[in-house]
Amino acid sequence: MYIHGYGERESDRLLAQAASIFPLLHADTRFPPGRRVLEVGCGTGAQTVSLARNSPGAHFVAIDRSTTSLARASERVAAAGLSNVEFLHADLFALPFDTASFDHAFICFVLEHLSNPIDALRLVKQLLRPGGTVTVFEGDHGSGNFHPDSAIAHRAIACQVELQRRAGGNACIGRQLYPMLVQAGFQAPRVTPRVVYVDATRPDLVDSFTRKTFTWMVEAVREEALTAGIIDAATFDAGIRDLNRAAEPDGVFCYTFFKGVAVKGASL
Ligand SMILES: C[S@@+](CC[C@H](N)C(=O)[O-])C[C@H]1O[C@@H](n2cnc3c(N)ncnc32)[C@H](O)[C@@H]1O
Repeated sequence: MYIHGYGERESDRLLAQAASIFPLLHADTRFPPGRRVLEVGCGTGAQTVSLARNSPGAHFVAIDRSTTSLARASERVAAAGLSNVEFLHADLFALPFDTASFDHAFICFVLEHLSNPIDALRLVKQLLRPGGTVTVFEGDHGSGNFHPDSAIAHRAIACQVELQRRAGGNACIGRQLYPMLVQAGFQAPRVTPRVVYVDATRPDLVDSFTRKTFTWMVEAVREEALTAGIIDAATFDAGIRDLNRAAEPDGVFCYTFFKGVAVKGASL
């Protein structure tokens, strides 16, 4: 099961998320001309457009297991006038590529949904040539802090974390990027925290991050959380109300993403 689903609102949420993290993720993500880059789990192309635009000489192969998302991603890339991306419908655990056939790989918000993220990293490593790199970007819901603070809002967030755990994922995976890259056999892993800090001086981020990236994501698990019996409706709704409170003029929201870059060594 994929916790976020593939609905219209989730597609809008991924776009809002991509807009709010754009400088954190893409400011230092560039691939040289002539390089082949595998994007694993491109979804609706929210990152693909930025990747392809920022590295116009590189060739991107973007894969996802959702045909609906791939269709959306393909439209977006075409609408942006980019011609350096090819899309492929595939599961990342059964990719039809030769060993060492890519120079780089890029994985954003995918490992958090997998029960075996280290296996996924190992498979990606096989597809890289020696000296190639992997770039991984993930969030960590344990890092969400806000003002006014609210124990009930933290309970609503905990529902999302618990349901993602039950679906086999890990919503707090960001803090584990370093050990996972090491365990997968990558060399020279370098992980850096990327903080989103939002107050009223950034109305763009209040809307795109506090409301549409984070609060929408938690709100989306309402029915599932109620059905699972892990919270009651009144408490959950009060938690969402308090999360939205952080988007008001005196509110503050802070969240840490983690970006990891690591190298494939000489051995396959
Ligand atoms: C949260 S979305 C992230 C999409 C995009 N990377 C972004 O940053 O907006 C996660 C994506 O991973 C894809 N995914 C999850 N497991 C996968 C698998 N085993 N093989 C291929 N794609 C997978 C899902 O279909 C979904 O599109």
